[in-house]
Amino acid sequence: MGVFTSARVQHALLKGWHAWLAGSFLVAYVTADENTYAMHQFAGYAVLAAIVARLAGGLLVPAGSPLRLSPPDPKATLAWLSSRKGRHPLFAWFAVVLLAIVGLAALSGAVADSAAWMEHPHEAISEASLWVIVGHITFVIWMYAGKKGVARVTSWLAGMRLSNLPKERAR
Ligand code: HEM
Ligand code: HEM
Repeated sequence: MGVFTSARVQHALLKGWHAWLAGSFLVAYVTADENTYAMHQFAGYAVLAAIVARLAGGLLVPAGSPLRLSPPDPKATLAWLSSRKGRHPLFAWFAVVLLAIVGLAALSGAVADSAAWMEHPHEAISEASLWVIVGHITFVIWMYAGKKGVARVTSWLAGMRLSNLPKERAR
């Protein structure tokens, strides 16, 4: 167990877990079509397993560990708003909202597997979770790369959309 108590190892575990969650979410999202249902099911359950593992790990590790999940504190958020000192409280808010909505998307999928009435709510929750993820990624880029990073990504996305337009015919 000794090696798992090192903060460096715990950060590496968190990164590995993040890749597992983000990767399986991406696969589940792009395979939601009926033709690729088996893969959708596999990736969706991988998302569910990642969320369950994070909740179990986050509640079982001792306080102070980088893996510890502690709910965001509204009082500390208000204090941060007036002092602007310390870690941005949106990190913690995003973590709980993401875990909740992505977990609900996967759980409702598991229910929709045997109860057809859950298909529409499952689709709606999954689409909503994608928007929360877009917010999460924008926030992370903003915090780590600043305004320039966000501008670079949005102009890259705009460029991608433009490059999909039919090219003007050369005369
Ligand atoms: C390119 C895409 C992504 C990037 C660059 C990214 C980046 C990050 C970073 C840097 C953190 C740590 C934030 C901190 O310092 O506290 C984080 C946390 C998190 N991300 Fe992402 N992320 C991406 C995609 C996703 C996706 C697709 C999901 C969900 C399916 C997701 C879910 C989460 C969750 C739940 C946390 C909180 C982890 C925890 O503390 O338990 N991320 N992300
Ligand atoms: C977070 C993970 C998941 C995401 C993002 C996701 C996303 C989606 C989306 C967007 C749809 C709508 C597809 C469409 O009709 O165009 C869908 C449908 C569906 N998903 Fe998931 N899903 C996830 C997990 C799961 C899981 C774990 C299962 C369990 C097997 C599942 C089962 C289903 C079923 C039964 C449908 C309805 C298929 C149909 O319309 O015929 N999903 N999912």
